[in-house]
Amino acid sequence: MKNKITHIGLLVLCVFMLSLNACKHEPVAPIIDESTIPSNICFNEEILPLMQSNCAYSGCHAGNQDPDLSTYNGIMDLVKPGNPKGSRLYEFAIGSQMPPSPKTPLNLQQVTLIYGWIKQGALNNTCGCDTNIYTFSGSVLPTILNFCSGCHSGATPSGNINLQNYSQIVYAIDNKGLYGKITGASDPMPPPPSGLMSACRILQIKKWIDAGKPNN
Ligand code: HEC
Repeated sequence: MKNKITHIGLLVLCVFMLSLNACKHEPVAPIIDESTIPSNICFNEEILPLMQSNCAYSGCHAGNQDPDLSTYNGIMDLVKPGNPKGSRLYEFAIGSQMPPSPKTPLNLQQVTLIYGWIKQGALNNTCGCDTNIYTFSGSVLPTILNFCSGCHSGATPSGNINLQNYSQIVYAIDNKGLYGKITGASDPMPPPPSGLMSACRILQIKKWIDAGKPNN
């Protein structure tokens, strides 16, 4: 009797494990709330850095690797402008294994951004950048979230530093040579193949540092 119960128990456990495994490989299609899509999503500031930091690093989808997600043309091979659900890039973004461990899969906000950009016509567009705007919340944080947090976030961030909020960013400036890296003086960040951020974004950060790094 005891043996039988153990067997049934094992069987139930097996079925349970199998069902878990089955779920694990299916993309979880997020429900995109279209009202949360920002207007005028910019390819060069928002989509490209997201791709480059999450997907287009060496050994994954950069350069000779197919699909090459490090350039507009490479990305466009997977995109049907205006039709996110018919685009392989969107399928790719909602796939629960992309990017693979130890990176964290894209979150709903990032998937929404990709969806919205395709819906808005998948343009190769650039957002304006004004060197007179250099507050932490108005330029420094959004820039760092766009260009750096793909690698510097989560439980196992690159270089062992997170760059997600004010205190983490100030810490990296004071102790980890952040400014030298974004100007390419040593060990450029973002690393190749991305290349440095635009001179305007770098100047905004410099002006904010020179102003005493206020949490404004
Ligand atoms: C594609 C992934 C990737 C992106 C994007 C990226 N980094 Fe890094 N970063 C790394 C890796 C990997 C390291 C650790 C190895 C090294 O120092 O080169 C690192 C290291 C660093 C370090 C040094 C940490 C230490 O302990 O010395 C700083 C500071 C840094 N990154 C800042 C940035 C900033 C600022 C950005 C955005 C402008 C950025 N990174 C974008 C991958 C990335």
